[in-house]
Amino acid sequence: MKIACIVGARPNFMKIAPLLEAMSEYPDLDPILVHTGQHYDYEMSQIFFEDLDIPEPDIYLRVGSGSHAVQTGKIMMAFEEVVMEHKSDLVMVVGDVNSTLACTLVGAKLLIPVAHVEAGIRSFDRTMPEEINRILTDAVSDYLFTPTKEANDNLKKEGIPEEKIFLVGDVMIDTLLKYKEEALSSDILNELDLKKHSYALMTLHRPFNVDVKANLVSILNAVMEIQRRTKIIFPTHPRTKARVEEFGLSDMISSMENLVMIEPLGYLRFMGLMVNSKFVLTDSGGMQTETAVLDIPCLTMRENTERNETTQAGTNTLVGNNTQLIVEESMKILDGNGKTGSYPEIWDGRAAQRIAETLSV
Ligand code: UD1
Repeated sequence: MKIACIVGARPNFMKIAPLLEAMSEYPDLDPILVHTGQHYDYEMSQIFFEDLDIPEPDIYLRVGSGSHAVQTGKIMMAFEEVVMEHKSDLVMVVGDVNSTLACTLVGAKLLIPVAHVEAGIRSFDRTMPEEINRILTDAVSDYLFTPTKEANDNLKKEGIPEEKIFLVGDVMIDTLLKYKEEALSSDILNELDLKKHSYALMTLHRPFNVDVKANLVSILNAVMEIQRRTKIIFPTHPRTKARVEEFGLSDMISSMENLVMIEPLGYLRFMGLMVNSKFVLTDSGGMQTETAVLDIPCLTMRENTERNETTQAGTNTLVGNNTQLIVEESMKILDGNGKTGSYPEIWDGRAAQRIAETLSV
């Protein structure tokens, strides 16, 4: 079975790594790796290949940045040629980025089966581009590999036949568990002169939070308060960096002595910061899950989540971009009253193996 495996953006790389490894154990599975080029900076892409031992992509499409329509359209045009030439028997997509949807549409229209890894998660917020990508990808996929029971239920409610749905766990957690020990001993703490559990780790990149000046200011006002009590390490996404400059907020940022803005980091150094942090402030999807597994309190700067298990049973709390709420919940954690929790049993590091086993004849 010739499988075209798709990656494009940063959150795809840690998901494809365990899948390629697991599939290599099955001689009837013959994957090639296609990188769309949605993300292209060294820190947003190449470094993950090095950190996670992902083989060089067989095909690199170099689509780059653009509006949703431009990016999705360019990927579709370029990827259609690839599958025709490669004569793929299956297209495998992960996550919910534009590359995921674009390649799914190409496969579905050419009647090539599509496998979606991380299927069924829903925020029920269609203002998020990722939610649109999830719904459409799942609607036309043939294998829907889900991380939780709740994801199965979501798909059934959308009318997806049960025989297409496979509860396998979370491939991102496969990667986390594999590299956790290595991350714990990463020398990023020495580099930044940090002590374990003495700082918060922050990431911020959702268009809703960073492209709207009032929302970004509201978050930065909270950060201003929190950094008076603890150091905050802030690896900054290129989108956020651009907005900070555009909105004239650079002076506000540099006035915060305990806010340490750094370049985006690769997987191992970033994980080094996460596993040793006191708490996490983020609007990322994946970090909500990772912190739940690591039992680290996470404050998610969004109004909703597609990962409800992390707020219900796990360490995650939704705080939106409300200054007061972000500060209050951060102080609770700093006062020693952070959430602890559990996570689904099936997040056991074997999701990719279950997927490979299902696809193998
Ligand atoms: C994308 C995903 C989002 C994911 C995020 C992780 C979609 C719709 N969104 O958002 O789900 O959480 O990746 O990073 O697919 N840029 C660079 N260098 C790069 C890549 C991007 O400078 O290597 C800048 C460009 O100015 C670009 C902007 O970042 O216009 C946004 O990139 P884009 O891929 O459109 O979306 P993300 O915000 O990264």
